[in-house]
Amino acid sequence: MKRIIAVTGGKGGIGKSLISSTLALVLSERGLRTGLLDLDLTGPSDHVFLGLETCFPSEHFGIDPPTHHDIHCMSIAHFAGKSPSPLRGEDVTNALIELLAITRWGDLDFLVIDMPPGLGDATLDALRLLRRTEFLVVATSSRVVLETVRKTLRLLTELRAGIVGVVENMRREDSPAVQGLAREFDVPFLGALPFDETLEGATGDVSRLAVTPAVAALRRCASVLFARAQGPRPVGESPCA
Ligand SMILES: Nc1ncnc2c1ncn2[C@@H]1O[C@H](COP(=O)(O)OP(=O)(O)OP(=O)(O)O)[C@@H](O)[C@H]1O
Ligand SMILES: [Mg+2]
Repeated sequence: MKRIIAVTGGKGGIGKSLISSTLALVLSERGLRTGLLDLDLTGPSDHVFLGLETCFPSEHFGIDPPTHHDIHCMSIAHFAGKSPSPLRGEDVTNALIELLAITRWGDLDFLVIDMPPGLGDATLDALRLLRRTEFLVVATSSRVVLETVRKTLRLLTELRAGIVGVVENMRREDSPAVQGLAREFDVPFLGALPFDETLEGATGDVSRLAVTPAVAALRRCASVLFARAQGPRPVGESPCA
């Protein structure tokens, strides 16, 4: 894998899964070999955004992630189907290690990881176990969201994790708040996705999703990744080893 991009933010419902799924789509449109790992073990939703029917993946010395629109997708949803997957403590760590260990990704230019909300077990394990991860931080201009995203940025900074930048989501009106947050942590502000009324209708239909105003804006935000997609990033240590 050349680069691992974890989409995070800390707060729930701010669009991490939408941005993860459609970022994978945007990268794969560019001909980049892309994987998408849904690390939300209790509420996976990338398969819903992309309209991927969950099925038990095929096994051959490991699990081959199902491919959808050229994206290699792995999620606990392939194993749990429509059943709930209540997990706590050690179970979270074990499920996460198993997903990471058994998946045969092959050669990828990008692995996009959809992080769960909060700074709980799954997030901390991902920080500990996934070497070379760079974080793309999602925020909205809501004061409630900013309060939590600021804590996430502080943690990532303290751990000296790589931060690709901050993306504002669900922008309804011009507000300097998210840009100000990026400045506060001296990380790039990558741009904003508008609040997009058409997203709900396009959910589950990749060709409709691809032409929504939100995904058009994400393409612009992601151009920083295309620009650097050619060369591999130097191998470093896990920020939380
Ligand atoms: N730019 C946007 N405009 C309108 N609706 C949006 C936008 N971004 C996300 N949404 C909607 O907001 C809801 C929450 O999005 P999503 O599931 O991606 O959030 P999340 O941060 O992954 O949540 P969780 O922390 O619970 O996993 C979804 O219904 C999604 O379609
Ligand atoms: Mg999510």
